[in-house]
Amino acid sequence: MSVKIHLAPMAGITDSAMRVITMRHGADVCYTEMVSAAGIANDSRRTFQLFEKLPEEGSVIAHIYGANPDYMQKTAEVITELGCFSGIDINGGCPVHKVTRSGSGAALMRDPKLVEKIVAATVKGTNLPVSFKTRIGLHPGEITIDDVARAVEAGGASQLTVHGRVASKEHHGDVDFVLLRRAVELVSIRVVVNGGIRSPQDAARMLEETGAKEIMLGQGAMGNPWLFKRISEYVNNGVELPPPSNEELMRVLAEHFQLAMQFQQQIRDNYPEELWPTGDPEQSAVSCFKRFMFHYFRGMRGVTDLRRQMNEYKTISDVMAAISQYIHIN
Ligand SMILES: Cc1cc2nc3c(=O)[nH]c(=O)nc-3n(C[C@H](O)[C@H](O)[C@H](O)COP(=O)(O)O)c2cc1C
Repeated sequence: MSVKIHLAPMAGITDSAMRVITMRHGADVCYTEMVSAAGIANDSRRTFQLFEKLPEEGSVIAHIYGANPDYMQKTAEVITELGCFSGIDINGGCPVHKVTRSGSGAALMRDPKLVEKIVAATVKGTNLPVSFKTRIGLHPGEITIDDVARAVEAGGASQLTVHGRVASKEHHGDVDFVLLRRAVELVSIRVVVNGGIRSPQDAARMLEETGAKEIMLGQGAMGNPWLFKRISEYVNNGVELPPPSNEELMRVLAEHFQLAMQFQQQIRDNYPEELWPTGDPEQSAVSCFKRFMFHYFRGMRGVTDLRRQMNEYKTISDVMAAISQYIHIN
């Protein structure tokens, strides 16, 4: 059986443009950015923007956070009615204070009973598959994955995703393969394992050490959509594909930019002006582009100078000219 590769939900990163690029390059499953269940249940239009999809985008899973079972059920009903998502994923691992202070995200790992309740409430509100994404624990002294995994299964979810780090380590540091394997073996629902995969070899090690059949890529996929095919070729067929050439990198970067502009335009077409990003469409496309373009240049020479220069550029043509010159000298 071939490995299934998920793109991790990442706030501020996995918008529709990023998801389309990633899908074009072989990702099997993508998730939206994190969306507040309270925002959806209370019909906040700004919150709904995070569910916006480009027309070309196919199957995507809505990634939500919350700790109130009633809101979770209501949100599940709304998402189901929207009719454009293939599943609902609950955030049970975000360490950001804005999220944990209401008992959501990583705070849920302290309360497996509540985990079961919110999973069950979400399942009640939808006929879509429901999944739960969590971590091995809150910090090294508070490892709760076993109880949380059982609660997710008991609540009726069909998938558990485990990030193999504790919440106090955020997104850095070593991944605990032993605890990941234990989670894979503990429950009978599908378990997706996540954390620290930056190369085909990392992916092979993750699969080998944990016994999982599905993996999720986060930071390794930022500016590197080629990683999906490189991993599947390596682990399924033993073939090592080379990294992209500079020409290919430029081509995909331009493609990503095009999609980002299309997305900006779609937000303006579908929402009232007070909800638009600041600046004209070109300005906001350029500032959005600057946010993700450096991921593509990670590890390349002179990238700090390029970043400095970028502050001066306000138009798309200036930005593209500076990038082609930069690529040329690399
Ligand atoms: C910028 C950023 C934003 C993230 N946002 C979310 C989020 O909204 N929901 C979530 O479950 N995880 C979020 N994560 C965690 C990732 O989904 C993933 O679990 C983590 O980065 C570990 O995988 P990696 O080592 O492959 O990056 C985020 C990570 C990063 C770097």
